[in-house]
Amino acid sequence: MAIRIRAPADPASRRASDHPWEIDQAVLAEGVDWPMIFGRSGPVEMEIGCGKGLFLSRASAGHPEVNWLGVERSSEHLRRAIDRAVKARVENVRFVKAGAEDLLRSWLPDASLRAVHILYPDPWPKKRHHKRRLLGLQQGPATVRHLARVVEPGGHLAIATDHTGYAEVIMQVMRGAEGFEREETFYSQSLFADGELPLTEFERKYRIEGRLRHRFSWRRR
Ligand SMILES: C[S@@+](CC[C@H](N)C(=O)[O-])C[C@H]1O[C@@H](n2cnc3c(N)ncnc32)[C@H](O)[C@@H]1O
Repeated sequence: MAIRIRAPADPASRRASDHPWEIDQAVLAEGVDWPMIFGRSGPVEMEIGCGKGLFLSRASAGHPEVNWLGVERSSEHLRRAIDRAVKARVENVRFVKAGAEDLLRSWLPDASLRAVHILYPDPWPKKRHHKRRLLGLQQGPATVRHLARVVEPGGHLAIATDHTGYAEVIMQVMRGAEGFEREETFYSQSLFADGELPLTEFERKYRIEGRLRHRFSWRRR
């Protein structure tokens, strides 16, 4: 049975849904305690921008020994992701409605994650919107510095995008990231090294369309 993560009394920090697997932001902000949140110890892997949760429901079913955390800022997508996890009857996944920036900047402790997955992040294709990219030239270096802080040594960072321009920018940002070394192939040294790939909602769509997919992973030094 999953444990219920109670929201504090403050109405401003009330959860968007009442599902026990949705963690209130305030619970993380007060101090992350993974064994309390998951009801057990074990490695934690986080997906940023989990969308409707296809990857997380598959990953948590396929790797029950791992504790999975989905971060999503859209309430509608988060609700769909939780519904999907409930239908899949997985117990080892939790969700938080938040912008990843808050988790990375202030809430997540050092070396507290075994891996971070950023699969098909919003590419913000218009030039005037490039500053909104999580891994763009403006925000990217800070995002990656925070990622290097929260991913444990030997842990992993996986990124995928269908947008070639964004892929080039991500590579440029990651080349300046001292904390990570590139893996030869996508997920070459991690859970998915056996060829099992993290199909997401967007990846499924792009595969059907035959669209180019850029997929990279790095190992935390
Ligand atoms: C293009 S969708 C991809 C969803 C999923 N990863 C997939 O591949 O099917 C990007 C998702 O990231 C979410 N998102 C964008 N920026 C975010 C941020 N800073 N923090 C958390 N979620 C974010 C969006 O709401 C959206 O659901």
